[in-house]
Amino acid sequence: MRFSTSSIIAAPLLAAASVAAQQSITVNVGAGGSLAYDPPAVTANVGDVVTFQFQAKNHTVTQSTFASPCLSLEEPAPGFDSGFMPVAADLTTPPPSVSFTVNVTTPLWFYCKQTGHCEKGMVFAINPTADKSFAAFQAAANASNPADGTPGSASASSSAPARARRGPAVVGARGWALALDAMRVMGIEGHCTDGLIA
Ligand SMILES: *[C@@H]1O[C@H](CO)[C@@H](O)[C@H](O)[C@H]1NC(C)=O
Ligand SMILES: *[C@@H]1O[C@H](CO)[C@@H](O)[C@H](O)[C@H]1NC(C)=O
Ligand SMILES: *[C@@H]1O[C@H](CO)[C@@H](O)[C@H](O)[C@H]1NC(C)=O
Repeated sequence: MRFSTSSIIAAPLLAAASVAAQQSITVNVGAGGSLAYDPPAVTANVGDVVTFQFQAKNHTVTQSTFASPCLSLEEPAPGFDSGFMPVAADLTTPPPSVSFTVNVTTPLWFYCKQTGHCEKGMVFAINPTADKSFAAFQAAANASNPADGTPGSASASSSAPARARRGPAVVGARGWALALDAMRVMGIEGHCTDGLIA
């Protein structure tokens, strides 16, 4: 019996894809009225399903980027967004839930797009790294501008009031991330201005 070249190549790929068993991960959103995801960060493999259970208030789980925690991911394509999930205060039935299937090995970043929530630290991460940690992501969220979600000071430990910036929303999430990375490498993040971004 003869095998075509394509079936010989395809077989190992199919085998590799089915090795790991799918894992289910539950994340509580806004439990007890908190502005938080619980747990705030998880480790997951491609194929794992993260299910967000909306416990209270009116939150979202919306994909963003490490560099712009409080702006929705739009480039190269719009990211995941649960949309607003309002929950009645006297909810007795199981809370509404939305699932996200992990489809990349790189870190994934999320926030609540309800006004002001991201800037109060309501962010979530899948597979953060030592370099791009959850704490650094949340610090950047806290430093973002509550009026429009644009990034504040790039300093991860900054507690200074957020300043409005016009640049990032225009440049797009990916361009902003690359610009920030480049500035970090060059050690000039403190000199980041709207003029430099534009
Ligand atoms: C991963 O899933 C998200 C949300 O379902 C989708 O927007 C995105 O395009 C997917 N990415 C890849 C690489 O398939
Ligand atoms: C949930 O929040 C969104 C955005 O603020 C708002 O438009 C919507 O009316 C809210 N839904 C409820 C039921 O409060
Ligand atoms: C971000 O702000 C929240 C709410 O004040 C706080 O609990 C959290 O510790 C802050 N995170 C960082 C990394 O500063």
